[in-house]
Amino acid sequence: MSELNNIALKILNNGKGILAADESTATMTKRLESVKVQSTAENRLLFREILFSASGMTEYIGGVILYDETIKQTTSKKNKIPELISTMGSITGIKVDTGAKVLAGSQNEKITEGLDGLRERLKDYYKLGAKFTKWRGVYNISKEHPSKLSIQSNAHALARYSALVQECNMVPIVEPEVLMDGEHSADECLEKTSEVIKRCFEELILHKVDLKGVILKPNMILAGNKYKNKISNEDVAKLTLKCLKDSVPSEVPGVAFLSGGQSEIEATENLNLINKYNDTNFIMSYSYGRALQQSALKFWSKDIKNIEGTQKIFNHRAKMNSLAALGKWSKELEN
Ligand code: G3H
Repeated sequence: MSELNNIALKILNNGKGILAADESTATMTKRLESVKVQSTAENRLLFREILFSASGMTEYIGGVILYDETIKQTTSKKNKIPELISTMGSITGIKVDTGAKVLAGSQNEKITEGLDGLRERLKDYYKLGAKFTKWRGVYNISKEHPSKLSIQSNAHALARYSALVQECNMVPIVEPEVLMDGEHSADECLEKTSEVIKRCFEELILHKVDLKGVILKPNMILAGNKYKNKISNEDVAKLTLKCLKDSVPSEVPGVAFLSGGQSEIEATENLNLINKYNDTNFIMSYSYGRALQQSALKFWSKDIKNIEGTQKIFNHRAKMNSLAALGKWSKELEN
């Protein structure tokens, strides 16, 4: 087994998943201000340290994706954050793209930047303790979107990023996120997401990326948030499996879904059904940001000194998602 495949499996095996705590400072500021907490470097660290030192980390969280600010921070006990994560039995990851910017040639779409100087930054992150990385490409659905230009240019960037990351002995998370915003049906989401993912893998192969050392982080197949009808969770699971079966090469060891604005319970329930019906060889797990943190953040914001209470809520969410990654979750367990 290659070293990279080994890392990918360690992150995702046995119902473990990923805590995506890699919100940029701008995004974290939005999240904190939404619960009326001031977004200072100390407060951002305070909340994240509470999560990273929760007991649920050991059993349920195989990897944590950090943001540049966090990987360089020191805990209240004067440990480096990657040391804390590794003490808890989890693996440190780092977001390495520098964000999605307007795509020249298609003003309503985005291209993710960050390739210039990436090799040097990767070497630094590796020294800081990172073993895996994340890069997010973002696509929106409308009649004419995603355009060929956006699909092609983001796939190219994801492939160049992945090749560089593997060269530096880390596992790249490849995240092509087709957004749920819009009036599109689930069938349209299926068609566009499949096209996006297929194109990504064609480019990854062209760039000689070892697919056994990659984790795919896709969206689930959902109807747009402004679509006229609601689609059932069963259909989400079945369409998502269809999409991945058709578009992901069999060498890829695992898939870790993003939650993408689904509620906590929805994200858990859909993941559980995906695993119930999973007839592929891929591990199907989670790499959730909001769907792992939302309730904990809300609770914490009411009393930022209540570490134990906040951790209890986080542990519960992590456990529920871990059960879902094994297809063993049920609604009753939420109480
Ligand atoms: O890139 C997106 C995040 O890592 C996942 O966040 O689960 O809130 O969509 P989300």
